[in-house]
Amino acid sequence: MTLINTNPCFHALIPAAGSGSRMGSELPKQYIDLLGRPVIRHTLDALLAVESLSRIWVVLAPDDIHWPRYKWPADSRITVLHCGGATRAESVANALQEVALHADAQTWMLVHDAARACVSPRLVARMIETLADDPVGGLLAVPVADTLKRAGDDGRVAQTIPRAGMWQAQTPQMFRLAMLRDALAAHPEVTDEAGAIEACGLSPRLIASDATNFKVTFPDDLAMAARLLGSAAESTK
Ligand code: CTP
Ligand code: MG
Repeated sequence: MTLINTNPCFHALIPAAGSGSRMGSELPKQYIDLLGRPVIRHTLDALLAVESLSRIWVVLAPDDIHWPRYKWPADSRITVLHCGGATRAESVANALQEVALHADAQTWMLVHDAARACVSPRLVARMIETLADDPVGGLLAVPVADTLKRAGDDGRVAQTIPRAGMWQAQTPQMFRLAMLRDALAAHPEVTDEAGAIEACGLSPRLIASDATNFKVTFPDDLAMAARLLGSAAESTK
């Protein structure tokens, strides 16, 4: 007899153990000020607004000295793990080992970059509804709008790549705990969770998102994030 989990749990996992080298700031980018709060606080607040998320795991670098300097929401769903690794994939893989000690193997894990601070709680809730019965899981992504060029070593175009069917991967990326843990253990070289699942021969579902869920990566991105979050706050007044 196959046991079917009829009451799935949904957890978020926020990798926040990076140094933000492309931001060029001393302070890791997840702690940079954005409208008076660290970047990751906006990310955390957005995920806390998703009622179906019963746990939120924040993955910090083992030597993180910044987290204790801030006041965080007193919400029992939040657990901080100090097990970040050298790469994003390693941070997520390490965290999943710890989460697996506390959660069912079938728990849906929504892995979401700390640096995607403008994520919409409504979109995450819709993603959860869409994928709750999916055999594989999936990710938020945006269809590519621009023509794509592959550069040669001389800085000239070597090739034009047809954009039809091309999507830019975002987060959350939502997969079941045991499936994702095993996939990342087998394929540690990937740059996102979906990549590990694909390497296992499975096809994650693409859920259409939009450009507002961009990753704060370069200094200019902070102004853009401030505009988006500022106008969202205005519209709820
Ligand atoms: N991340 C992580 N562990 C790492 C590297 C990255 O948890 N070893 C996290 C980052 O904190 C971020 C998310 O993964 O929230 C996405 O990674 P990215 O935007 O590349 O952040 P950084 O690696 O910090 O930035 P950069 O690549 O510019 O150094
Ligand atoms: Mg990085």
